[in-house]
Amino acid sequence: MIQLPKGTKDILPDEMYKWKYFYRKIEEICRSYRIEEIKTPVFEYTELFQRGVGETTDVVQKEMYTFDDKGGRSITLRPEGTAGVARSYIENGMGSKPGPIKLYYAMQMYRYENVQKGRYREFNQLGIEYLNTQAPSADVEIINVATKILDSLKITDVIVEINSIGCPVCRKKYQEILKSFFKNNLENYCETCQNRFEKNPMRILDCKEEKCKKLNETAPSILDYLCEECREHFEKVKSGLNELNIKYVINPKIVRGLDYYTKTVFEIISKKDGFAVLAGGRYDGLIEEIGGAKTACIGFAAGIERILSLIDEENLNIEENIPELYIATIGEEAENIATKIVSSLREKNIICEKDISGRSLKAQFKYADKIKAKYCITIGEEEIRNKVAKIKLMSTGEEETVGLSVEDIISKLS
Ligand code: HAM
Repeated sequence: MIQLPKGTKDILPDEMYKWKYFYRKIEEICRSYRIEEIKTPVFEYTELFQRGVGETTDVVQKEMYTFDDKGGRSITLRPEGTAGVARSYIENGMGSKPGPIKLYYAMQMYRYENVQKGRYREFNQLGIEYLNTQAPSADVEIINVATKILDSLKITDVIVEINSIGCPVCRKKYQEILKSFFKNNLENYCETCQNRFEKNPMRILDCKEEKCKKLNETAPSILDYLCEECREHFEKVKSGLNELNIKYVINPKIVRGLDYYTKTVFEIISKKDGFAVLAGGRYDGLIEEIGGAKTACIGFAAGIERILSLIDEENLNIEENIPELYIATIGEEAENIATKIVSSLREKNIICEKDISGRSLKAQFKYADKIKAKYCITIGEEEIRNKVAKIKLMSTGEEETVGLSVEDIISKLS
């Protein structure tokens, strides 16, 4: 049998209701913030990610699905959504519209990763991007949207971590200081960290290897080297979050794995399994880097599979596709009557079913039970003759008489 590719997943009908619930919540929340939906192509020219996400990042160096198309152009399946949205912003002249442009997307992403729990090769991200806004209050609003989404799904066992990684000016100075700190001990760091030393020393702070984490404990903090503007920006973000009562911790070791970040960066971590449910930050230089005008932006993306794995269904009122009514039938005439009734009920958006598999009456009852039908009506010769039937509330077995007209049936469904 041919199996699905490693790191991918089928989303089956019996879990789809959770996805739909998530999308409904997102739409509601985004509408209240006037955040509009965007979709960008699954693939882009590879150069967009090389320049946007950064040549030295793991994503670009190791994780992209890249191939030449039949015209010899290098194409990459998007590993993340921000670069594509930034390209679209430039290409569609969104900069001339009144800012900020507030966008959201729910799209599949592709990364050639080491597959493990919560880490897939095809996964879905909900991304929210605010383009053309440099005020700290945009950072506050973005973090507020992020926490609101998790709150609305009753995902509370999480921790909001924030940091500022400064601008290219203050970062340059900090990187030199950091390099002289690492230099003394470089041979004791893991191989990946040693490779990062020249090109991307800040990423060493992000290493998950125990021995590197230990060595990093005494590393200088970026927060001590922020320039005046970056320091003030970060102070305003913190006080804005305090105003809104959003609890956070400052983690000066967050550096993020993508090169486009500036100033505020943040991650929301699940306490249960330790992974980032969502992450993001400012990217004030990205649009210019890929050919647009200087445009300050901020955003985040959440792993939808990770979010859904944390939803406690007991806590939420997620409607499943449970039928209101099942009509069991004996004989052809009864079936014809049932067909007409379900078709009229469906026109009124009532979820209902009748047998279409030629099952015996006993098997029809069993099926009604399995699909958790709320009510069941049985139609046979006697019911046709008397134009009335019994309607049974499946959870209690309680029965009532009902006329075999759509109006009568509707009046009994509650
Ligand atoms: P990221 O940190 O690479 O950032 O990914 C954001 C989130 O996507 C992660 O926190 C995680 O929940 C989820 N995620 C990432 N990789 C995987 C994977 N292999 N399997 C399952 N879930 C995954 C970005 O992608 C940035 N574009 C976020 C952003 C938007 N920054 C500014 N705007």
